[in-house]
Amino acid sequence: MVNMEVNLGGLKMHTPVATASGTFGYGFEYVGAVDYSKLGAVTAKGIRLEPWPGNPMPRHVEVPGGLVNAIGLQGTGVEHFLKYTVPWYRKQVADVPMIANIWGGTVEEYAEVAARMGDTVDAIEMNVSCPNVKAGGHTFGQDPKVLHEVVSAVRKATTLPLLVKLAPNVPSVVPYVKACEDAGADALSLINTIPAMVIDIETRRPVLANRTGGLSGRCVHPAAVKLVYDAHNATKLPLLAMGGIYDAKDAIEFFLAGATAVAVGTATFTDPGVVAKVCDGIAEYCERHGFLSVSQLTGALV
Ligand SMILES: Cc1cc2nc3c(=O)[nH]c(=O)nc-3n(C[C@H](O)[C@H](O)[C@H](O)COP(=O)(O)O)c2cc1C
Repeated sequence: MVNMEVNLGGLKMHTPVATASGTFGYGFEYVGAVDYSKLGAVTAKGIRLEPWPGNPMPRHVEVPGGLVNAIGLQGTGVEHFLKYTVPWYRKQVADVPMIANIWGGTVEEYAEVAARMGDTVDAIEMNVSCPNVKAGGHTFGQDPKVLHEVVSAVRKATTLPLLVKLAPNVPSVVPYVKACEDAGADALSLINTIPAMVIDIETRRPVLANRTGGLSGRCVHPAAVKLVYDAHNATKLPLLAMGGIYDAKDAIEFFLAGATAVAVGTATFTDPGVVAKVCDGIAEYCERHGFLSVSQLTGALV
């Protein structure tokens, strides 16, 4: 029997497989369709302080090997999340930890959302790939100084395990990894979607109402593996890796590159059962290669 437990910066997961934010609703919607015993954690859809409508439709389009989405972080707001979503999740899914994914328009908003979470959830993941309204709309995750500031503010506001989800569209991930480490993050998530655009050549219009969106799915996987590898070489912080996991092989690549745990995203749209298959496949690989524990896979690249 392979020991599948991992510790992701203080978040204890009984399997190393989580769901990625925005691809698994608020976590309870798949009860009856997915074997939750194979899930080490569920990451909920992004939440800010107030309800947020997201972008107009159309807001997603399939591309070869993936998806471009511009959902625009539609969400219920923190009050509804704490009053209805979390209690309902706990009732439906008693024993799978919930990671709340938070975002905001200002440093103060991030800190307030984190503080409001209290200890109702099991960990917080900060989505820093959203515009800083006080800095002309530049995203928090693309300036190491600003990233340090927002992570420090959230660190002061919560004692929960704190994950920061890094943006992939930076020349080098290393300064961002260091900024998060210095600011007190417990773990890093990577990658978020890659900025992308699809054009309908007949209408000469962008397909998405928002014009641009974020690319995810199989096609981003090799880029994600490289970023996880770079991050692992720059820090001892545990990494939650995501980006194009469709089977156990994709997940195992992430472990070898340095991940402590993995998250499945876009693949669940075509097969919600992928998470369970990925979990079983990792255990089978460990057995076949003589690893007693999945944690021995982390960074085991030769
Ligand atoms: C439809 C959709 C919605 C998403 N919403 C969020 C979100 O609310 N917060 C966030 O941090 N990431 C969000 N993401 C990014 C995913 O969590 C994940 O980082 C990315 O899709 C890469 O993984 P994948 O290729 O397995 O999907 C979203 C992705 C998709 C496809």
